[in-house]
Formats: sequence, structure tokens, C-alpha cells
Amino acid sequence: SKLKMFVDELPDMPKLRGYHVLNGVPKSKSLKIGMFNKKWKFHRDLPPTPVFAYGVSKHTATVPGPTIEALHGFDTYVTWQNHLAHHILPWDPTIPTAISKTKKGIPTVVHLHGGIEEPQSDGNANSWFTVGFKEKGPTWTKKTYQYRNQQQPGNLWYHDHAMGLTRVNLLAGLIGAYIIRHPKIEAPLGLPYGDEFDRSLIIFDRSFRTDGSIYMNSTGNNPSIHPQWQPEYFGEAIIVNGKAWPRLTVRRRKYRFRIINASNARFFRFFFTNGLRFIHVSSDSAYLDKPVTTNEILLGPSEITDVVVDFSKSKSNATILANDAAYPYPTGDPVTEANGKVMKFFIKPHQEFDTWRIPKRLIQYPAPDLSSVSHTRYISMYEYTSNIDEPTHLYLNGKSYEAPATETPKEGSTEVWNVINLTEDNHPLHIHLGLFKVLDQTELVNLEEFKSCMMKINDAIKCQLSKYARGKRIEVPAYEKGWKNVFKMTPGYATKIVVRFGYIHTNASYPFDATVEPGYVYHCHILDHEDNAMMRPLKFIK
Ligand code: C2O
Ligand code: CU
Repeated sequence: SKLKMFVDELPDMPKLRGYHVLNGVPKSKSLKIGMFNKKWKFHRDLPPTPVFAYGVSKHTATVPGPTIEALHGFDTYVTWQNHLAHHILPWDPTIPTAISKTKKGIPTVVHLHGGIEEPQSDGNANSWFTVGFKEKGPTWTKKTYQYRNQQQPGNLWYHDHAMGLTRVNLLAGLIGAYIIRHPKIEAPLGLPYGDEFDRSLIIFDRSFRTDGSIYMNSTGNNPSIHPQWQPEYFGEAIIVNGKAWPRLTVRRRKYRFRIINASNARFFRFFFTNGLRFIHVSSDSAYLDKPVTTNEILLGPSEITDVVVDFSKSKSNATILANDAAYPYPTGDPVTEANGKVMKFFIKPHQEFDTWRIPKRLIQYPAPDLSSVSHTRYISMYEYTSNIDEPTHLYLNGKSYEAPATETPKEGSTEVWNVINLTEDNHPLHIHLGLFKVLDQTELVNLEEFKSCMMKINDAIKCQLSKYARGKRIEVPAYEKGWKNVFKMTPGYATKIVVRFGYIHTNASYPFDATVEPGYVYHCHILDHEDNAMMRPLKFIK
């Protein structure tokens, strides 16, 4: 049966402040946030769905979880508590996976995506824990994570990161938004603000059975090798803030939307059916220099776009936020009637006086210093297939996660990474701790020849990358020219990025030691790839 679109109101997730204010003076704060088995209504006509939900209590837990609002410069401490008793989705013990020995708990660990935080609080995949911290992964160090919030203001999100379970734990609902605010520098910008005009939209795709439960294929594409693992999860329904194809009535004014693509594998290319435009103000966790206006936005898994939409410019009284990105991106199936629609806006007829504005300039950060680049690395993306020509696993640099760290930057350094995508899919590469700018994307000519050399020796220099990286160049869109923590790596291209392993707003060094265990990771953010095993350690040295 088909679910009717645009019948549920867009919810706002509950807000949790990550700081206290005492007599007008902010102070740090400690939060306890649990993960609960509960049921969630994704649609008016769908029975309640078993989910994993983050919340202060089981009763108040939501999918997505509460939006944490932190204040620049003030610590937020979070004790993440696992109350999960049983899994609600199939998973696969044949890929590298955190497994509870007693089978009584679900391994989970929380990562603050976009956070510049100490390794012990970064949510390493092997720092997982089960209910009541009864079992712990090999790199577990502490119960309470410290988020210093000393980085630039911007949009982050928190989500599960347990080894081999990330794709199913997020599918089950372990997702939430996290905003770092810096009123002193943000308020003068005059952008839309407050609960009504500044909203997070957390978007993902899910399929459901008629009993309401989340549908995930329980048979792998190579069942004799991996009984359950599939290379990409795609769902038919598009969920925004926990409701399938919701609706929102807006006034004829400017609104700010912080849009997080929390899908496992789906890329979105958003556009408005009535031609309304997006005015980009930030991308991932950092503001742009100046606003950029576009008709569409391509958003890979885990990317965040932060846009102002001016509904006073609308010629109609309703518009649909739609999507036309093929899945898998870019060469997969075209969107369907269902997954090509996201949500509907009903626009009130009367023009209103609007106090919000779009400033000419946003926030300027120093450009990366290319003369100080201390290291150039080559990161290659490989997909391996079985004798039935189905993907079995994907690796970065031909190495499993367990192989010793090869990416060992210096704390505070700037590096150039050449990311060579030898597969047919676009992979959103995410680097923990660092921020980067995309310098260029160049097509690889005679790809098969280059690839066969790389498959043998995985050495971009010996395989003469420079001889092959001389095809078409893709311009980086203006709205993606700022500092990013994840970017879409075009298939058959070498993408050059400059990565900064330090703050972007100051030369001050980190207020923590980034070199300690368990270090960090970088990975593809298609979760089904990350789990099997497109993830590598990132170890810092002094
Ligand atoms: Cu959004 Cu390593 O994660
Ligand atoms: Cu990938």
C-alpha cells in the first residue's frame, strides 16, 4: 500500500542546551543521553516502527535524537548511555564487527561528526560499549565524553560509529543534530534566527513493511561470502525529522534550513518545483566567505548544507522540495515517484515585513597555506568483486582497517591528499578532526590501464598518476569552496584536497593531545562501505 505524501506536519526535534546560563554568564554543562529501544510513528498511516532512539529518557527519546545546541568556548560533557537490549535489523558477523560476547547487548559508540575533539571522545569504532557498559571494545577509555566546542561555529551531527554496525545502528535511528553557536560573530550577520525561522532538517531514506517495521534486505548480494551485507541500502520513503514526506506551512519570509543528509547511501540533488532558490551560507561545519545562490544542491551522505530560502520570492502558494539524484550515484536508477519527493511547503499568501537579511559577507577564515604543506598523500578507493561479479568489500589504499596506520600526519600540519577513485560509484570521503578544501578534480584517462597497475601495486607514483590525471576537470561549485569535512569523490577522477589538522579560525594548537590512543579515522560515509571496510586509522604524531 502506498503512503500518502505531505500529511504529517514537519516536527522539530527537542532541543538540548549544551551549556548553562547563570546570571547571564554561560557555563559548561553535563548531559546524559541514552539510546533506547522504542517505537516511532514515521507516518500517519503506518503502524509504529521499532527504532533505536536517542533521548534524555525513553519517554522523550526521538528519531532523530534531540538537537544539541552548544556554545562556542564552553564544554559540553555527554555521558552516552546504552539501554539497547536487542537489535531490530539484520547484521552480518562476517564483516569486521563489534560483537557482544554474551549476545545480550548491542555495541554502540557515539561520534560527533565535524567535531574537533580529543581522541578519547571521538567515538572510535572500537571504543564501543553495551548496556550499562557491561562489555567494552578494545579501545574504550571513558564513559563521559568531553566536547570543548572551541572550533568555528557551524553544523555538526552525532551518530553511531560501532565497528561493522554503523549502517544498521544508524538505520535503526541513532542520529542527531549538534550546532555550535557563536553569537558574538553570528548575530551581526542578521540571518534568520529562532525556533520558527532557523530549523534543522535531518533527511534520510527508509523502507517499511506493512507492520511498520523498517525493511532491510536480510540476504547479502554474495550470500556465500557475506550472508547479509549489501553494498548500499536504499529506502523508498524520504523521512524529514522523523516523518515521511512531511509538510510545513511557512510565512512569506526568509527561513534558514540546516540540512543534514543522514542516509546510508543515498545522494540527494535537491530543488524546488516552483524554482525557488537556495542561498548557501555554510557547508558542513563552517561558514562560507559569502552567500552563494543556486537552483539545486547535490548532497552526499553525511554532508550538511545550510541555506536560506526566501519564500517572499515564491510565485505560488505551495512548493515541493524534490530530489533527482540517481541511486547509487551517479550511474544508478533514476528516482521514483516516491523517493524523488522530500517535503512540501505551503506558503501563506500575505507578504510580510522581514527583519532577517542576507549579508554580503559571512565569515572569512584564512586560506590554507599551500607553501606550508608538509606531506602529500595518495588515497585510492577500490571495490572488489566476487566471481558472480558482485561487490564483496571496498578498501582504501587496498588495506583493511586492521592494517597498521599509514596516514600519520603531524598535529597542526597541513597536507595535500590526492584521492583516486578507481570505482564506478561516487564516495563521500570523511576525515575526522581535519577540515579541508577541494582544490581540483581531474579525470583519469586510460583508466583501465592505470587501475590494473594500481590493483597490483597500489602505488600512485610508480603507476604514474601524472600520466593519467590529465583528462577533464570539474570546477568545484562555489557553494562547496569553503572548508569541508566530507566531499564527494567523483568516480574515475583524482580529487585533490588540502587538509588542515588544526583550527581554521586561529593558529592556536588543539587544547588536547591528538596523538593519544585510539586516534582517529577517515572513511567513506556510505555506511555500507564504511562497515566493509572503507575505513582507515588516522594517527597523529607530534
Ligand atoms: Cu559521520 Cu566517522 O563519521
Ligand atoms: Cu563508498
